[in-house]
Formats: sequence, C-alpha cells, structure tokens
Amino acid sequence: MQYRGERKKFRLERFKTPSLHSWSENIPKIKTKGMDAEVAIDVGWGHLIFGQTFDDHHKLIDLFLEEKTGRRDLAIYVRNHHVLLSKAPNLLFVDPSVTFRLWMHNYRMPKRRHGGFTIRFMIDRRDAERVNEIYRKCGMVEADQDTMIKNQYTQTFNYFVAEDPGDGEIIGTITGIDHKAAFNDPENGASFWALAVDPDRRAKGIGRALVRAVAEYYLAKGRSYLDLSVLHDNKKAIALYKALGFEQVPVYVIKRKNDINEVYYTGGPQP
Ligand SMILES: CC(C)(COP(=O)(O)OP(=O)(O)OC[C@H]1O[C@@H](n2cnc3c(N)ncnc32)[C@H](O)[C@@H]1OP(=O)(O)O)[C@@H](O)C(=O)NCCC(=O)NCCS
Repeated sequence: MQYRGERKKFRLERFKTPSLHSWSENIPKIKTKGMDAEVAIDVGWGHLIFGQTFDDHHKLIDLFLEEKTGRRDLAIYVRNHHVLLSKAPNLLFVDPSVTFRLWMHNYRMPKRRHGGFTIRFMIDRRDAERVNEIYRKCGMVEADQDTMIKNQYTQTFNYFVAEDPGDGEIIGTITGIDHKAAFNDPENGASFWALAVDPDRRAKGIGRALVRAVAEYYLAKGRSYLDLSVLHDNKKAIALYKALGFEQVPVYVIKRKNDINEVYYTGGPQP
C-alpha cells in the first residue's frame, strides 16, 4: 500500500502544472529531441507551418501576419491551438477540416492495380502548368510553378501526377511531404496535400491510385504514418480515405481569416 502511495506522489510531481507565466507566454514543451525549430515550408500555394516546432505562439502569429495575398498558409499540429486562437481571435480560426491518418503498418497492397493511366513524379514546367490547371478546375488555390519545381528536387517534397499514356495528358495530382526531411520529425511522419483529379476523369480510380502511390512511397522510406486534412463534408474524399484504412485523429488546422478562407469562418453564404 505504501509503495502505491509513493508511486502516485511521483506521478503527480512529474506532471505538475507549469507556472501561470509559462502557460500564458509559452507553449508547454514536449519531448522534441533533435527536432528542428520553427519550421514552415512553402508548398507553392502557401506555407505549411509545423506547429509542433514552435515554442512561442507569438512567433506563429507573426508568421501568419506575413502571409502573402492570394496564398493560403496553414498551421497543423499546433500545441494548445485553442490558446493560440485566444491570442489572435481576429486573425486566425480553426479550419472546419478533419485530419485522417494511415498508420503504415495498417497499409495493404492492392490485389489488382489500376489500368489506363500511370503515376509518376512531376518533372518540369509543363507538368507544373497542368497541375495548376487541375487545381483551377477544382476551385483550389494555384501554386507558384517555380516553387513547385524547386521543391521537387528536395528530400521534403514529392509532387506526383497521374498521366494518361494515350495522349500524355496529366489527369491528377497529389503532393507528398516527408516530415522527417522537413524538420527531423521525432514521430517519423509524412503527409499529403492538394489531391485533385481532373473533373472530366473522376471515378476511374485515379484518386485512389495517387493516394496509394504516396502511401507506398513513404512506406518504402520507413515512415510511421501518413496524414491528410480534408473538409469535414467532403464525402467522396473521406470515403476514399476510409476505404484505404485512414482513421480520423484529433489534429486541427489553423488558418488566417483572409478572403480565400472567408466562407469557412463566417458560416458560408446565408440562406
Ligand atoms: C476526391 C477525388 C480526388 C477522388 O478522385 P477520383 O479519381 O474520382 O476517385 P476514385 O475514382 O479513385 O475513387 C475512389 C473512391 O472514392 C470514393 N468516390 C469517388 N467518386 C465518388 C462518387 N462520385 N461518389 C461517392 N464516392 C466516390 C469512393 O470511395 C471510391 O471507391 P469505389 O471506387 O470503390 O467506390 C476527386 O473527387 C477530386 O479531385 N475532388 C476535388 C478535390 C478534392 O476534394 N480533393 C481532396 C482534398 S482532401
């Protein structure tokens, strides 16, 4: 009995609440050995800010204040994101998206592969132009082409495209991000962004094949999981992710209250 009591005391001390000062000014530190600090990467359509690499919410706020017009910066994995919002309620909001995660050990190779198209890396300006055309057709923010091409030759980014071998036309795209390469992620994760299939070529298995390509790429690189963020009501995409073994996780995305995002922080057009 005495032993149990002592152990309880030890636990309480270990998880003691930080002082009021440290709660108000800083973010409680987590085990981050070897992780790079204050990492934000330019994906082309905006910055992807890795919130867990920031120990000070005010630095995140400063970063959002630097967002360029027409871009859509976002922060994910922010520690105590509700506290961040309380410090900049007129600037920031929680995006109505949900995060899904595929633990790599749950991934299963398909019994049969798709037919009628091939998946490859995006290589040149012509590819980048066509990727932007697909973003445009899907109502997504376009990306700076030079940034995309420059990124493609780094360890962090992998822009994949689906191609119709008949006419060489690009019909779908997805962007993979290796978190280990981006900030030496201690969780050994990866994520993908901006999945889009040409609206004229949908429901032919292209979206599924693109997600599989990214998952298999990061599985081969030894990553532990693959995350994505999707609007809560994007039923088609969510059905696709669930079918591949993705599960919802309590991870949230913070964005700036800009013109592009207006519909998501005002409740949308009123009836
Ligand atoms: C989501 C998207 C990428 C799917 O691409 P796609 O090539 O049409 O999808 P696939 O043909 O590979 O379908 C795979 C699965 O998606 C779901 N799906 C696709 N089309 C669907 C539809 N019309 N109705 C319901 N489910 C659908 C199904 O689960 C399907 O599995 P099934 O073939 O066994 O039924 C595409 O609709 C798209 O580009 N949407 C706009 C951009 C977007 O929302 N991106 C996701 C952001 S996170």
